[in-house]
Amino acid sequence: MKAVRVHEYGSPEVLRYEDAPRPAPGAGEVLVRVHAAAVNPVDWKIRAGHVKGWLQYTLPMIPGWDFSGVVESVGSDAGSWKPGDEVYGRPDMSRDGAYADYIAVRASEIAFKPKSIDHVHAAAIPLTALTAWQACFDTAKLSAGQRILIHAAAGGVGNFAVQFAKWKGAWVAGTASGRNQEFLRELGVDQPVNYETTRFEEVVHDVDVVLDTMAGDTRSRSWGTLKPGGFLVTLLGRGPLEEAAAHGVRGVGVLVKPNPSQLTEIAELVDSGKLKTFVNAIFPLAEASKAHQLSETGHVRGKIVLKIV
Ligand SMILES: NC(=O)c1ccc[n+]([C@@H]2O[C@H](COP(=O)([O-])OP(=O)(O)OC[C@H]3O[C@@H](n4cnc5c(N)ncnc54)[C@H](OP(=O)(O)O)[C@@H]3O)[C@@H](O)[C@H]2O)c1
Repeated sequence: MKAVRVHEYGSPEVLRYEDAPRPAPGAGEVLVRVHAAAVNPVDWKIRAGHVKGWLQYTLPMIPGWDFSGVVESVGSDAGSWKPGDEVYGRPDMSRDGAYADYIAVRASEIAFKPKSIDHVHAAAIPLTALTAWQACFDTAKLSAGQRILIHAAAGGVGNFAVQFAKWKGAWVAGTASGRNQEFLRELGVDQPVNYETTRFEEVVHDVDVVLDTMAGDTRSRSWGTLKPGGFLVTLLGRGPLEEAAAHGVRGVGVLVKPNPSQLTEIAELVDSGKLKTFVNAIFPLAEASKAHQLSETGHVRGKIVLKIV
């Protein structure tokens, strides 16, 4: 099969489009013909060797943990999946990913893709939508009537977080550059904040939840926007955040996990017209390095997707 592999950590040029062995599904696994794979910041962080401390791979490895495709074959004990099923998922990041014609994944990590959209748009969903869902609902327990500040609201995680928060009945403030202010309004953000002209902590107050997608200075300035007892959930860090107590609030870092029942619920939201997917750029698999360069700018609206079939 064709795949994009990393033989040594480094710049986008280390991504090699080449022949690679086609994986075989083991027990409890299915083989998926990948139709599209999304590009996420973690892909280039891994490629560059930034996260060697917590994710170790045997090189060469295949990046990409966000896909939509069709079940090609089924291993033993793989549940009711059968060839031809159209599925999507965010598989185990410790294994080879989806920048390839085929991926072997655990049957317990996939769900039926939304029926109403194509594979390119479906591939743009699992990793970032699950992250937004798990951060807002499982961790911060965001509920109707609450107020949330979402940083990078136009980005891969942010646009789903905004849509989920509005669907839940929350009030939303969101940050983005001037270029994305109209997009934030289209998403439903109640208080869009242009970080190029406005310090968000001067105009956003008394929120129940902050979704921190940026860390650094953005996180430091976010504590004061929370109500006493509020909750900051960050995607950059793990476990409890010690500095939260000094601000009279709670803070925790989360790491997204595969969750097929949440993916099924998310697919239903898409198919009932309540959730939209925004794809900013589509590249062929052979141009994965260009896709990484674009992702590394940090200014993508929605998602980048590699179209494989
Ligand atoms: N812990 C986890 O499980 C987990 C899961 C997913 C992602 N992450 C991490 O979370 C971060 C966000 O992920 P993502 O996929 O959403 O990234 P992304 O799609 O690449 O984010 C791009 C967005 O960031 C916005 N942005 C850039 N600078 C900003 C600033 N100073 N203030 C507000 N917005 C700004 C951009 O808007 P403008 O163009 O308008 O500036 C753009 O829309 C990444 O570091 C990623 O690795 C962690």
